[in-house]
Amino acid sequence: MAPGAPAFDAFRYAHEHYHEIAWMSQNTNHLFPAHVVEDAVARAMAEKRYQGYPYAPGDPTLKDLVRADLGLPDVTVGITSGGTEALYMLTRALLAPGDEVVASDPSYLIIHRFVELSGARTVNLDIYDPPYRLTADRVQAAITPKTRMILLIDPLNPLGSGYPPEEVRAIAEIAHDHHLVLLNDVTYRDFPERHTLAHPYAPEETVTVWSVSKNCGLAGLRLGGLVARDPLFSRIWKYNTNDLGVSVLSQAAARAALQAKPQAFPAVREQTRRNQERIREVVATVEGTHLPVYPSQANMFVIDLTRAGVTPEDLQKELLLRHGVFLRAGNYLSPRHGAKFIRASFSNPPSDIERFAQAFPRAVETLRRAAHPPQAIAR
Ligand SMILES: Cc1ncc(COP(=O)(O)O)c(C=O)c1O
Repeated sequence: MAPGAPAFDAFRYAHEHYHEIAWMSQNTNHLFPAHVVEDAVARAMAEKRYQGYPYAPGDPTLKDLVRADLGLPDVTVGITSGGTEALYMLTRALLAPGDEVVASDPSYLIIHRFVELSGARTVNLDIYDPPYRLTADRVQAAITPKTRMILLIDPLNPLGSGYPPEEVRAIAEIAHDHHLVLLNDVTYRDFPERHTLAHPYAPEETVTVWSVSKNCGLAGLRLGGLVARDPLFSRIWKYNTNDLGVSVLSQAAARAALQAKPQAFPAVREQTRRNQERIREVVATVEGTHLPVYPSQANMFVIDLTRAGVTPEDLQKELLLRHGVFLRAGNYLSPRHGAKFIRASFSNPPSDIERFAQAFPRAVETLRRAAHPPQAIAR
């Protein structure tokens, strides 16, 4: 790269070519029936709802839908601009300098960054080995007098591993016994056949962070939130910065999508199962690559490249620029193992997955040849 030249910005490139890209880099969902959302937003637009502020505490019907969707009738619902805002708010509210949070590596590191902004630190248990998730024993062993919180992301981004009910229960009981906050991030909970919320096992200690970005395919509308019981909910909500409420259009879309989800989601889940099967077939043909977790319980997993002779960054760039297929290099998701894998999400139409199927073997081969050119033939 020429001195002073700007680094390649994959996201800028991908957004500039949005309609030509198979977007498999952010666990977004491109399968949820679009008309549901389009009708709701069109109605809110026609009523000019955007001219007024939203009802600041959040649409009461949407809150009822969130409670019903989670099956938690006795929680208070906070609606935020994506689950991200809820995550920031709760780390800000509940953590102080010197505190520790038991977490994992790999993980969704944005939460770790929020923990650090509050002056606390994460204790990252290495989970890049079977069973590719936390276990209650390891969580228990990591607890010190400084521990304030356990981060339970289930299913887990980026590995796609999910937690069996007995492990959720055991981790929740640890939180209860040690008076720790249990942050149960359930952003991907609709993708497995069965999912267990931690809340019923530790109702006073659990904050559940939910989102409609991935299940309902509304990532661009930025809507999610948290649920908890009081007094925990009120301790967190004091830190709400979005005092005038979350976009009326997003709330209208989320309401319609949650109403449609029970009927619409099984077909989405089915397609993600078929898609990950197709990706597995392709990965099996490329020497040196494998899937640590299969089947994924989410809408993504990692493709391990340790023995492939290519770097995740080079592969991300090659796939994007030459094939219009956007995957995410692992360094964004793991300090320790990020150089070993690339993450693929697959809640996409089959045509995107076929594009990947054609591109992946060719991209790996191209990079291998560039790294190890065939010996020049001596004349
Ligand atoms: C584990 C996890 N939590 C939260 C989020 C944030 O989602 P949202 O779009 O609701 O802000 C993501 C996004 O990828 C995620 O992977």
